[in-house]
Amino acid sequence: MSNEVKTIHEFDATLICEYFSSIPRQGPGSPEATLKALSFVDNLTEKSQIADLGCGTGGQAITLAQNAPGSIAGLDIFPDFIDKFNKNAEKLNLQNRVKGVVGDMTNLPFKNEEFDLIWSEGAIDGMGFEKGLRHWRNFLKMDGYVAVSNLSWFTEERPAELEKYYLTHVPDMGTVWHNVSILQKAGYAPVAAFVLPEACWTDNYFAPQKAVQKAFLEKYAGNTAVEAFIADTRYQAAQYAKCKQYFGYAFYVGRKV
Ligand SMILES: C[S@@+](CC[C@H](N)C(=O)[O-])C[C@H]1O[C@@H](n2cnc3c(N)ncnc32)[C@H](O)[C@@H]1O
Repeated sequence: MSNEVKTIHEFDATLICEYFSSIPRQGPGSPEATLKALSFVDNLTEKSQIADLGCGTGGQAITLAQNAPGSIAGLDIFPDFIDKFNKNAEKLNLQNRVKGVVGDMTNLPFKNEEFDLIWSEGAIDGMGFEKGLRHWRNFLKMDGYVAVSNLSWFTEERPAELEKYYLTHVPDMGTVWHNVSILQKAGYAPVAAFVLPEACWTDNYFAPQKAVQKAFLEKYAGNTAVEAFIADTRYQAAQYAKCKQYFGYAFYVGRKV
């Protein structure tokens, strides 16, 4: 590995997988937030087809499987995450209804109008909120639902340092109201939008990383790319503690029209 300092997005994929495979979820969220979003989705049956895009190791797909009827196809670009996803499903005896596949959410390997529900937590920013919603709409049946959590601004203005950091990583990051208008423009009737509680970040995302950060710094002592990556994740936690009134995750639920 080179010693040049890399951002999280450029960081070695294998190490990112190793780091994030060690924690239960790869982004902020909670089973309660997943269930709240699910409560806005109507008409699911045993025959329903559900996709979880950018599913990671399966945090929310398992919650969905335990609380909604139908089959769930998880999709993620990282094979290691999908291995773990499928093992988690098997452990809970959900393998007949929950199956992970390696694939790219920007070019979905599914049939047009295959799904009744497309789910995605903390992943759409990788391709852009509007672009993702428009592409994924092709794979939803008419009246099918999309439920997506995404980084969002909570205020019209925010500290310059915070704005610079997030716009570097998520150039189209918008306010909650702006994102609802994008959802509507992309061909969905807005059904719900709500902000995820703080514990989704602090308890479920940042806290489990502390032990992994320590272990990583020991295992990869002297590796400047690892040190920069850990410094970045710690910076995110500190910035969240300081600036959480300005930004966070919001869930958006829409129905294809
Ligand atoms: C922030 S994580 C969220 C993971 C999971 N949904 C969760 O909440 O725990 C984003 C996920 O999107 C996946 N991802 C990024 N780009 C992708 C792409 N082009 N296609 C499929 N998955 C992608 C990453 O591998 C990662 O698992």
